[in-house]
Parts: sequence; C-alpha cells; structure tokens
Amino acid sequence: MSLTILFAASNDNWHMYGNALRDALSNAGLAADLVTQADPETVDYIVYAPTSKLKDFSPYTNVKAVLSLWAGVEKIVTNETLTMPLVRMVDPGMTQSMTEWVTGHVLRYHLGMDAHIVNPDRKWEWHSNPLAEERTVCILGLGELGCAVARCLLSLNFSVTGWSRSPKAVDGVESFHGPDGLKSALSSADIVVLLLPDTAETENTLNVETLGFLPKGAFIINPGRGPLIDDAALVEALDAGQVAHATLDVFRVEPLPDDHPFWRHPNVTVTPHIAAATRAVTSSREIAANIKRGETGEPFLNLVDRTRGY
Ligand code: NAP
Ligand code: GLV
Repeated sequence: MSLTILFAASNDNWHMYGNALRDALSNAGLAADLVTQADPETVDYIVYAPTSKLKDFSPYTNVKAVLSLWAGVEKIVTNETLTMPLVRMVDPGMTQSMTEWVTGHVLRYHLGMDAHIVNPDRKWEWHSNPLAEERTVCILGLGELGCAVARCLLSLNFSVTGWSRSPKAVDGVESFHGPDGLKSALSSADIVVLLLPDTAETENTLNVETLGFLPKGAFIINPGRGPLIDDAALVEALDAGQVAHATLDVFRVEPLPDDHPFWRHPNVTVTPHIAAATRAVTSSREIAANIKRGETGEPFLNLVDRTRGY
C-alpha cells in the first residue's frame, strides 16, 4: 500500500524539494504519494518547515512522525498539538555547509584578513599571525554541527575546546559541560563559535557576565540562533573592546530590522541566515531513510527530546 506524505512548507520549498524527495523515496523502495494537501486522517508522515501554514497537527491522527526540514526546532517544539514523534534535520550537505562557513570566518579572524582586504590608506603594515595551534577556538554546542566543525578546525591544527550540556569525549577536543563548565570553556577562547539550539536553557548563554569570562579582544561567530546572545551585552562588550568583532548569521528577529545597532556597528558582520541551508538532495535521502526505518519497525534517528527542547 502506498504511503501518503504531506509536504507542509512554502511553495518555494516545494519547488526545491518536490522532485528530490520523490526520487529519494523511490530509491529507498518506498511507494509513496508526496502531496501538498490531503485529508488529514489519510496522512502517514509530514515533512515540515515553519514556512508552512500548518499549525494545528491535531487532525493528523494517523501520522507516524513529523520530519523537520530544519535542524533547529524551536518554532515547533512547543506546539502542543504536535504529539507525534518529531525528527529534526541532520543532513550531510548542511553539515558540510556549516563546516565551510564557520571555517571561513575563523580563518578571516585568524589571518587578520580585514587589515589587508579593506585597506583604504594603502598601509604597508607587517605583522606575523600566530599559528593555528596557538589559537584556541571554543565551540559552544558539541552536537552534529559542532563536532563536524571541531574536526575540520583540528585538521587545520587549531586548538579546539568545546562545551555541551552532557559530558562529551571528542578526540582532540578539550571538553567542558554544564553551567559550571562554561567559565572554563570561555576563559581560554580566542574565537567562540555558537552552535547551540535555542531553548529556555540556552537563551543569553553569552551575557554581561559570561562575555566577561573571555580574554579581552576575543572574536564571536554565531551561526546558532539569535537568542543565544544578549544583544545589548554584546554591543557593550564590542564598544569596550572586550569583544573585538562578531560575525552574526542569526538574530532574535529575522530579517534583522533596519534600525538594529548590529547593522551599523563597525565591528559586527551581519550575514542573512545563510550559514547552512538544508540541501534538497542529501536531506531528502535522510528523510526517506528515516521513513523507511519507521516502516520497518526501526526507531527513528534524530528524534527531538521535547523536555530538553532539541
Ligand atoms: P545538536 O546535534 O542537537 O547539538 C546541540 C548541542 O548543543 C549538543 O552538544 C548539546 O549538548 C548542546 N546543548 C544543548 N543545550 C545545552 C545547554 N543548556 N548547555 C550546554 N550545551 C547545550 O544540534 P546541531 O544539529 O549541531 O545544530 C545546532 C544548532 O545550529 C541548531 O539547533 C540550529 O539552531 C543551528 N543551525 C543554524 C543553521 C544556520 O544556517 N545558521 C543551520 C543549521 C542549524 P548535548 O551534546 O549534551 O546534548
Ligand atoms: C537552519 O537554521 C536550521 O535550523 O536548519
């Protein structure tokens, strides 16, 4: 019998994913009707992005799982009508994209590229950069993306530390965990990368107090989520030179409002939530594989823990 899979996301998403998902489902040996509208009671799985108009999941009484097109699930994890298993996106294409994006911005800071790329007075200023092994990059969040970024930076010889909720053993990474570990993690960080989910516990992880744990002149790269940083505290730390520069990809309100101080701050680079888009072909394979698991009685991969919020 054919499965009914509801694609609940924007029209743009449909144009991007429709064919890739159909191919992936067929390659996984699944007979499935992939549709954008259906009688709720006939739907077996929902592929979902918050760009969808679907907010009330209660009529979908036979759905076996909702599969998110996004890695971050903060926009749906608290939806009380979503009582079925919720799977977050883990996509090798997205992981590679995040690794490339973070590594690029780490290298910008590490090599001091701005001094030479933007050099309006044509200054010939010689300086020698420390080697990567003399530079510590601290990754807040040692999950799917944080670990991939850590491995790439280690391969370039950076000294890498990390912080997570539970203890983690990642080869080559000095790891800290829990609220008590944050000070130790930050106090040796030349560059901080935020790859935490947006939860009640992670809000304002970087605030007036914790920004003060950093060595003076540290750099911040945030491709995680906007609420991880207290905006006003960051501006204050930038103005005081406590933080030398910040590259921010994600914000409390997106698009970032025109009057937000980040746009005009000389030591902030704003990028428009582009660090790591879900890739249609690779993510479709992951979705199809997870649906196949559901159909063959295996547990779903990458299930969201509702109590933790990620
Ligand atoms: P993940 O695999 O779930 O990893 C999350 C990490 O954060 C884990 O190491 C987790 O600790 C840690 N963490 C969670 N709560 C914490 C807390 N209270 N204190 C300390 N550590 C905590 O997530 P992921 O796939 O790596 O993705 C991370 C985030 O990246 C997403 O949630 C999303 O917001 C963001 N993202 C952004 C983009 C973009 O384009 N900008 C793209 C994709 C994803 P444990 O290991 O102990 O569980
Ligand atoms: C993008 O930000 C995602 O969470 O997938």
